Amino acid sequence: MVLALLLVFEVLRRGLRLRRQRQGLPGTGDVARSQLLAAHLRLAKPAVILVLVGFVGGMASAVWLRGFGPLSKFHGWLGLLAAGLFATAAFWGRRLEHARPAEAKALAGRHGLAGLLAVLVASLAAIAGFVLLP
Ligand code: HEM
Ligand code: HEM
Repeated sequence: MVLALLLVFEVLRRGLRLRRQRQGLPGTGDVARSQLLAAHLRLAKPAVILVLVGFVGGMASAVWLRGFGPLSKFHGWLGLLAAGLFATAAFWGRRLEHARPAEAKALAGRHGLAGLLAVLVASLAAIAGFVLLP
């Protein structure tokens, strides 16, 4: 999960560069948009898959190895919320990839918000996870 979190932070950083460029703010130099997008996507897909695998693994381990009831800990509920937000961000992200320019703006806003919230909630889940360590 630590690796998954590091990856999603980097994905968010690359997503925010895309946002700065879309809004015409300085800070992305003259890097081509396609290059920024490719960099975001290359990492985003494995990162989201890793988070979701970790979510299922955490759940399986809690129930089968530790004998906790499913979602019996606050950490589990934060994890569920984070996983849902990541799935939402990925869903809108995929639609963004194929969106016409007219719809891209609204989709990008929603995608970016879901992605940002996902990373924030996952960070809270990480804090709440430390007390569960054996
Ligand atoms: C860890 C998960 C992710 C985070 C935190 C994240 C974050 C972001 C952010 C902040 C932006 C900028 C949005 C804006 O311009 O306002 C962005 C753009 C974008 N993301 Fe993601 N993203 C994630 C995963 C994905 C995935 C899985 C896909 C595709 C399958 C994707 C596809 C895109 C695309 C196509 C854009 C370009 C938006 C545009 O045209 O301006 N993202 N992302
Ligand atoms: C550094 C970060 C994290 C740490 C230290 C951590 C630690 C733990 C620990 C110790 C458990 C109990 C299972 C066991 O000991 O076998 C657990 C369960 C779990 N974790 Fe994490 N975790 C982290 C991040 C995350 C994240 C980001 C998510 C979600 C995306 C997540 C989702 C879950 C879920 C769903 C469970 C099952 C808990 C339940 O059913 O109540 N974890 N985690």
